[in-house]
Amino acid sequence: MKILSIETSCDETGISLLERPEGSQSLVLLGNALASQIALHAQYGGVFPAMAKRAHAEKIIPLTKECLAQASMLTEQESTLGTDNRETIVSICTHEDEMINEFVTFFNTYEKPDIDYIAVTVGPGLEPALWVGINAAKVLSIVWNIPVIPVNHMEGHVVTAAVSETDKTYTFNDLEFPILALLVSGGHTELVLTKSYGEYEKIGQTRDDATGEAFDKVARMLGLPYPGGPAVSKLAKEFRASGKAQPFDMPRPMLHSQDYDFSFSGLKTAMLYAIRDLTDNHTRELTDEEKSALAAAFEDAAIEVLIKKTAKAAEEFYTQTIIVGGGVSGNTYLKEQLIEYIAKKLPGVAVLFPEPWLATDNAVMIGLAAYARIMNDTFVAQSAETLKANGNLSIAQ
Ligand code: KG4
Ligand code: ZN
Repeated sequence: MKILSIETSCDETGISLLERPEGSQSLVLLGNALASQIALHAQYGGVFPAMAKRAHAEKIIPLTKECLAQASMLTEQESTLGTDNRETIVSICTHEDEMINEFVTFFNTYEKPDIDYIAVTVGPGLEPALWVGINAAKVLSIVWNIPVIPVNHMEGHVVTAAVSETDKTYTFNDLEFPILALLVSGGHTELVLTKSYGEYEKIGQTRDDATGEAFDKVARMLGLPYPGGPAVSKLAKEFRASGKAQPFDMPRPMLHSQDYDFSFSGLKTAMLYAIRDLTDNHTRELTDEEKSALAAAFEDAAIEVLIKKTAKAAEEFYTQTIIVGGGVSGNTYLKEQLIEYIAKKLPGVAVLFPEPWLATDNAVMIGLAAYARIMNDTFVAQSAETLKANGNLSIAQ
């Protein structure tokens, strides 16, 4: 079984090809092409949907070719696309007309690869960006006559932490359900009870900013580049390594609330005030030492709340496994601290993180989520014509 997957929900364009060989329980990554728009958005300090959309539309066909070539499945074969298919492409790509000629040339040059499913992210994310991947999936599905599996991006983050990787081969770990998933990304912060791959209950979420978004905003306050998470975390690490006493004490919003919700806007405001006071109302620059102390104070506060609320939820719902997913799961401090805290508080409970290279957005996670649904009989192949982007799609349906 081979699954071609497409991810365009935010600022990474990803195409991957996973195969489960006959008789195997594992998936082999045959091809993986990813283009990051970080450099494009860095100059504005955040993602601009219209620019993200255009960059996805420029990259998606070249990346599809690259991925198929890696898998040795890009075979030249001269043919002429029929009028029906040509009209289908034109009607689907009305808002991505740069893709029309490229698609026609692509189908006229290469033969249909041996693929069983096309998986595509349909939400949540930036709708203009999501539509590019969806429209590409529609075209490929109709012209090649291959079924499409719509995938929830957050489910991709969940399953990516549930697999083990060796030599680009992925095996689902044998985990007891329910699994507690802490999903922390640029757009989301939520605690999700995973009852099976396909059945999710959201037990808490952020009431304002997402964790990654807070990292990005604090990075901007400290004059650090986008995306802010890795930059803030690096400074915080340097500060801790210096052994100096922390001069700042940041609030831990909602740490003791009786629910599993989060809030990061108060912490962000506290950072803003601390910087304003330190710099005499922005009349001077922060010193490097102040920046790293502030980065550490922020990271300590944000991560303490995530860890303690996750532990409380794992205890209340008797989960034997905690999974962490989303871009912020690449944060090594979160990883070290959560593993240490759970080992002390809830010994025996396993804590799983994705491979660092799969923590931020990619298409491998979308293929893994589609595969989990196929194996659990919880997927609905959708007719390509009815696929739709849903920017606010929830993991709990
Ligand atoms: O999952 P992701 O790639 O995209 C979304 O679906 O949002 O997450 C991106 C977010 C950004 O806000 C980025 O700053 C944050 O994840 N991030 C991190 C780290 N690496 C990425 N935050 C904290 N520490 C990190 N090491
Ligand atoms: Zn993501």
